[in-house]
Amino acid sequence: MHQIQITPEKCLQDGICVQTCPFGLFRDHPDGIPEIVDGAGELCIGCGHCVAICPGEAISLDGQGPEWCDPVDRTWAPSKEQILYHFRSRRSIRVYKEEAVDRPTLESLLDLARWAPSARNGQPVHWIVFQDHEAIHNLARLVVDWMRHKNLLPEIVHAFDNGKDMINRHAPCLVVAHASEQALKPVEDCSIALAHIEAAAPAFGLGGCWAGFFMTAAQQYQPLVDVLDLPQGHRVYGALMLGVPRFSYRRIPPRQELQVQWR
Ligand SMILES: Cc1cc2nc3c(=O)[nH]c(=O)nc-3n(C[C@H](O)[C@H](O)[C@H](O)COP(=O)(O)O)c2cc1C
Ligand code: SF4
Repeated sequence: MHQIQITPEKCLQDGICVQTCPFGLFRDHPDGIPEIVDGAGELCIGCGHCVAICPGEAISLDGQGPEWCDPVDRTWAPSKEQILYHFRSRRSIRVYKEEAVDRPTLESLLDLARWAPSARNGQPVHWIVFQDHEAIHNLARLVVDWMRHKNLLPEIVHAFDNGKDMINRHAPCLVVAHASEQALKPVEDCSIALAHIEAAAPAFGLGGCWAGFFMTAAQQYQPLVDVLDLPQGHRVYGALMLGVPRFSYRRIPPRQELQVQWR
């Protein structure tokens, strides 16, 4: 239940809230000041768009007006060329320096993922961050146990037995996203949050790689599920290795042709 309020003296009567609220919770009114529809409090998803967009600073949500929002400064936006370069030059990083990733950096990365989109603004993502080398290695060992048990990928098992971790890649940090199975779209929401972190990592001097083997095992191998000790009803929906890249890529490799039908 949310509380939406319009301060009439501040309203510029531009109708922007009417057009932008995702659930149409503001309605044009003959006196010019939009009205809030019946039952809006229950329908509102708390996305904050109305507060964030109103030029007159007339709207507050749950008692929090524009003064609770950071300003948007377009001069900070990266250029089109910078964005193209950034996304094309990102790579999955699998070889890391031994140095630990400091906690303030990790906190900044996790924090930015709070602004990732989520279904109905549910923001269901929870995190576990492993920074202890031994703990990360033990998680990899459990994934290898699962592979052995399932008779999967014997070459990866063999490599692990010989000191090469192709599960967590000897990464100094493993970030695990989990959410309630009852969330509306936990797979998508966790994946998008992790994708935000992976995309932002280079700006912090870090690189990352999705921990696919770990993710799969963490959803089904009970000894690993037990070690993770998630809250009741939660599942792992994604995981990312992070660390300082040992090597720098010098080129952007080719990719398949764009496959698209324009209709
Ligand atoms: C998996 C997923 C499904 C979504 N589906 C819809 C949708 O069907 N219609 C819609 O208007 N917004 C949809 N959204 C957008 C969310 O409502 C939005 O991300 C959330 O309200 C937070 O707002 P923001 O993205 O502007 O921060 C979806 C987002 C996600 C991640
Ligand atoms: S917070 Fe979002 S859903 Fe709620 S009234 Fe404002 S714009 Fe509409």
